[in-house]
Amino acid sequence: MILVLGATGGIGGEVCRQLKQAGAPFRAMARKQEQIDRLRQDGVDAALGDLDRPETLTAAMTGIDTLFLVTAPEPPQVARETAAIDAARRAGVGRIVKISASDCNVRSKIPWARAHALIDHHLRASGVDWTILMPTAFMQNFLWFTKPVAKGYLPLGAGKGSVSWIDSRDIARVAATVLTQDGHSRATYFLTGPQTFDMKDAAAQLSKVTERNVRYLDLPVPVFRTVLRLAGNSRWMANGLIAQFSDMVAGHHDIDPTGEVERLTGEPPKDFASFLRDHRDAFARAA
Ligand SMILES: NC(=O)c1ccc[n+]([C@@H]2O[C@H](COP(=O)([O-])OP(=O)(O)OC[C@H]3O[C@@H](n4cnc5c(N)ncnc54)[C@H](OP(=O)(O)O)[C@@H]3O)[C@@H](O)[C@H]2O)c1
Repeated sequence: MILVLGATGGIGGEVCRQLKQAGAPFRAMARKQEQIDRLRQDGVDAALGDLDRPETLTAAMTGIDTLFLVTAPEPPQVARETAAIDAARRAGVGRIVKISASDCNVRSKIPWARAHALIDHHLRASGVDWTILMPTAFMQNFLWFTKPVAKGYLPLGAGKGSVSWIDSRDIARVAATVLTQDGHSRATYFLTGPQTFDMKDAAAQLSKVTERNVRYLDLPVPVFRTVLRLAGNSRWMANGLIAQFSDMVAGHHDIDPTGEVERLTGEPPKDFASFLRDHRDAFARAA
């Protein structure tokens, strides 16, 4: 039996869909009763559990062999995910499959890259078997920009740096595969899309799919910060995104495509053009 955390989120939701399609036995965990009701209406076995209240995790973890661990990049992420690992160990869970990040590092200026390094460390030392998935940045992040793209701009501060962007549905596909197979014990997989490309290339592809001229605006850090704050991001998130794009990406520190998605699942990862075609409506609606 697999327990899927983050089942109401992007990757976890897609993992549930793929496990259901494969007929694999799983349970989803969510922290609110209305989320549980919705999951059950969709035919999913669901249990209440809130990672901010570790005492609520025991029931959800009972009878679980494998845990899928993902939470949002928020300040309590280390506390939440280490609580999940500790509860899994207490409940006798055999293996944890965790979403980390390709740039995780305890000395990183990016708070979620630092958090993942600490959590991965905790997991490897926990005594529970593990598989760690380290994806690069998600293509889904471009959905934050539907409004400016509708006006003909892609505003970011990423210089000329490239990213091996991955569609998060491919991350879920890898997760569903390794959750249901043996042979992934103590393995760390770096997951990327099929190509690496910079923001100018991204703007050119956005121009094609939206049929309007989209120009990349390489914002200086103070302007990028203002744009992020005006878009409603917390100071913590804005600082993290600046470190992510203006230091890491602009400094050409992203990894090259790895080929791991195809090696692990037998199918190549989606390219950016097909991601954009699948989300053409979201860009059209914003226009
Ligand atoms: N975006 C990127 O480019 C990128 C790149 C590499 C790695 N990552 C990593 O990917 C992960 C995010 O994946 P995602 O996009 O699928 O996340 P997401 O859509 O934000 O979903 C997060 C999930 O965590 C759940 N959660 C949060 N706090 C919880 C709590 N206290 N108890 C129980 N559940 C809780 C949320 O539940 P609610 O619905 O109740 O809030 C939601 O289901 C992060 O670890 C991030 O660092 C992201």
